[in-house]
Amino acid sequence: MAVDTVTMDQIVSLSRRRGFVFPSSEIYGGMGSTYDYGHYGVLLKNNIRQRWFEAMVLERDDIVALDSAVILHPRVWEASGHVEGFTDPLVDCRTCKLRFRADKLEDSQCGRKPSKHPGEFSECDLTEPRQFNLMFQTTVGPVEDSGSRAFLRPETAQGIFINFKNVLQLARRRPPFGIAQIGRSFRNEITPGNFLFRVREFEQMEMEFFVPPADSEGWYHYWIDERLGWYLRYGLRRSRLRVREHGPEERSHYSQGTSDIEYEYPIGWSELEGVANRGDFDLMRHTEFSTTKLEYVGPDGDRYVPHVIEPAVSLERIIVAMLVDAYDEEVVGERERTVLRLHPEIAPVTAAILPLIAKGEGMVAKARTLYEELRKRHSVEYDDNGAIGRRYRRQDEIGTPWAFTIDDQTLSDDTVTVRDRDSLAQERLPIGGVRAWLDDALERDWQTPKGA
Ligand code: GAP
Repeated sequence: MAVDTVTMDQIVSLSRRRGFVFPSSEIYGGMGSTYDYGHYGVLLKNNIRQRWFEAMVLERDDIVALDSAVILHPRVWEASGHVEGFTDPLVDCRTCKLRFRADKLEDSQCGRKPSKHPGEFSECDLTEPRQFNLMFQTTVGPVEDSGSRAFLRPETAQGIFINFKNVLQLARRRPPFGIAQIGRSFRNEITPGNFLFRVREFEQMEMEFFVPPADSEGWYHYWIDERLGWYLRYGLRRSRLRVREHGPEERSHYSQGTSDIEYEYPIGWSELEGVANRGDFDLMRHTEFSTTKLEYVGPDGDRYVPHVIEPAVSLERIIVAMLVDAYDEEVVGERERTVLRLHPEIAPVTAAILPLIAKGEGMVAKARTLYEELRKRHSVEYDDNGAIGRRYRRQDEIGTPWAFTIDDQTLSDDTVTVRDRDSLAQERLPIGGVRAWLDDALERDWQTPKGA
């Protein structure tokens, strides 16, 4: 019986217990809403990043990759509108000294106990809202003056726009074509929180798709469908995903149309990924501010400024959605188990190799040989520590789809047991066929047993 509602606390606790994610700087008392990734978190992130890169770049002929700098020329952020407009309204409470987003008071907790929304206590003393720019500032070079002021990028997109000409010329592209980038972005969020959902440092995966202006509406819908399909391909339940179109008042300054792909997180329906029709805003602004023409000139001399469709998401939001969707608890043979039903191509470890007896000489030799063979191509883990039941449960909790057990029978007939994480079914196969079996298993479609 699958658990239907998962709390953020369950996800935070599992992430910590199994070494996916740790609160950062803990030995110094912590650094609120900042996280470090442990071994399984890194493997999970790598898999999600790689699946995105395959779908957005490697499996396509019309998209190329880019890796631009984090600190760009400060004029980039003037042109993009971020210096002027990348702000949230902020209020301070003179009593509890906390800061809140003026437009999110309903979602915020006052510093007093029992906690209420800011403004609900008679002692609450809120300032008038003022605009607060979310970009982190830094200085470049040894002297701190106004000329050395620079910003940590709040989105990777601008690094793509300022390289438009390079890609157009050097990669000899013509619209429609895209440029994809994965990299850290930084935002001085006023109210970060909900685990990794809103953090100040996150890894964005963005793709700017440049199209002839007349085709932009069609491509906008195309990319909404493509991205929704990607989440379904990697196992998120359809019932927990929806597309919500922004009203005109909600759109960013650059947007002609935006749709959020939302996931039903424990905090309710919230933005997982945004797909925006940015029109020609960015290329026009960078043309104006840099005086470099950013346009497409066709072989017959026809010229236009392409419009841009942008799917943008962070690894952090995907990680939370995938962990929530995968988390399950069930009772098996009177024992409770917690299991992460992650898609096999997302799970941090693809297979575990478990010799039944840690010191059984023949078993260890066969298990190590199998482990060395599989680890050349897959993320596999060798575990000989503790009772077999405990080892299975450890692997269930990190979401390992298959475990191969080497036992007495292996010594006589060279077969191993494979145990399936989801169904708990076990079957025997020849040890020599494990590699091919695993390759086949990874090719098969996977549906979560948690339902649609
Ligand atoms: N280039 C467009 C852009 O950055 P956005 O809606 O501000 O648009 C895109 O951000 C995506 O980046 C969001 O859908 C979300 O997945 C992720 N994101 C934004 N702010 C975030 C934060 N503080 N923490 C984690 N992820 C964030």
